[in-house]
Amino acid sequence: MKVTLSVIKADVGGYVGHSSMHPRLIEVAEEALRKAKDDGLLIDYHVTRVGDDLELIMTHTKGVENGEIHKLAWDTFMEATEEAKRLKLYGAGQDLLSDTFSGNIKGMGPGTAEMEIEERPSEPIIIFMADKTSPGAWNFPLFKIFGDPFNTAGLVIDPKMHGGFNFEVLDVYEHKKITFSLPEEMYDMLTLIGAMEHYIIQAVYRKDGEIASISSTQRLSMMAGRYVGKDDPVLIVRAQSGFPAVGEILEPFAYAHLVAGWMRGSHHGPLMPVPFHQANPSRFDGPPRVIAAGFQLADGKLIGPRDMFDDPAFDEARKLANEISNYIRQMGPFEPHRLSLEEMEYTTLPEVLKKVKDRFVDVE
Ligand code: F6R
Ligand code: MG
Ligand code: MG
Repeated sequence: MKVTLSVIKADVGGYVGHSSMHPRLIEVAEEALRKAKDDGLLIDYHVTRVGDDLELIMTHTKGVENGEIHKLAWDTFMEATEEAKRLKLYGAGQDLLSDTFSGNIKGMGPGTAEMEIEERPSEPIIIFMADKTSPGAWNFPLFKIFGDPFNTAGLVIDPKMHGGFNFEVLDVYEHKKITFSLPEEMYDMLTLIGAMEHYIIQAVYRKDGEIASISSTQRLSMMAGRYVGKDDPVLIVRAQSGFPAVGEILEPFAYAHLVAGWMRGSHHGPLMPVPFHQANPSRFDGPPRVIAAGFQLADGKLIGPRDMFDDPAFDEARKLANEISNYIRQMGPFEPHRLSLEEMEYTTLPEVLKKVKDRFVDVE
């Protein structure tokens, strides 16, 4: 059976500030998706949130980038926005860049990650959702999961994975993509993906063509032409039986790597893996958070979620993230805590820079 898994997310209002989500917004979204399920448009759904981002996880048989599904997500975000306005939540409708839906939600503000798959006899899936960071945050873990034999034992041991994976990398500035075959082209790919705000791993495929992973790659500020917050990303990864094991997929997150985002989308900070109930970035609007929702698909039904980072094995990563935060926060507005000037172009800084621009005088 072919099933499409669509994860579509947007920040439609924060509670309090940008730190979390009011439970009413979840209720409104659940109500909308329940109706769509009753009407037969969806097979199943799960609504959740990370920080101030509302996450719609949906299964159906319509394929990726389907107009009806995207309209459902759009309408759901609009309804949640209305509720956010009533409660005067912060930044109501923040990510919705238009008043009217134009057929495809891509390019309209919300982030999307979708895959159509032939459901296996058992189909374990992990959905990562992050707040206060950007899609480049997945480059490091995706490389570890699908490209690093020190992370993923299956790359060495499992004959089904031993051939490696193909990585589709997007150049977000030039709107071009390139595919690398690993392990052969590992060094070539690493020349690019280390620049995580420029080159983003969009998808990973097994060598037989089966999709293994897909991420959201929307850059909101580039769409809007002004700073509207970071593009808090999502990532879908298939697990087991020829794909990396669940534990191999979670393993990179036991190290809190540095990502761009945090306060005003303008600072580097550690990505802290947290259980669902701790996904409320508050210190300096962070540090950036990631949650992992595990599901078993059963004829398109979402059996789950299991809260995959609700495990003391990730306590050390959380501790490390706090230690890095204490260290790096001391630098205040100095790089590399603050992003480079090039990346700051997509924040509110250029507005302030205008003030001093004309006061420069030539030097001999
Ligand atoms: C980061 C984020 C927050 C805000 C900050 C200022 O992605 O959403 O750190 O940038 O709280 O928000 P405004 O400008 O809305 O007061
Ligand atoms: Mg927000
Ligand atoms: Mg957010």
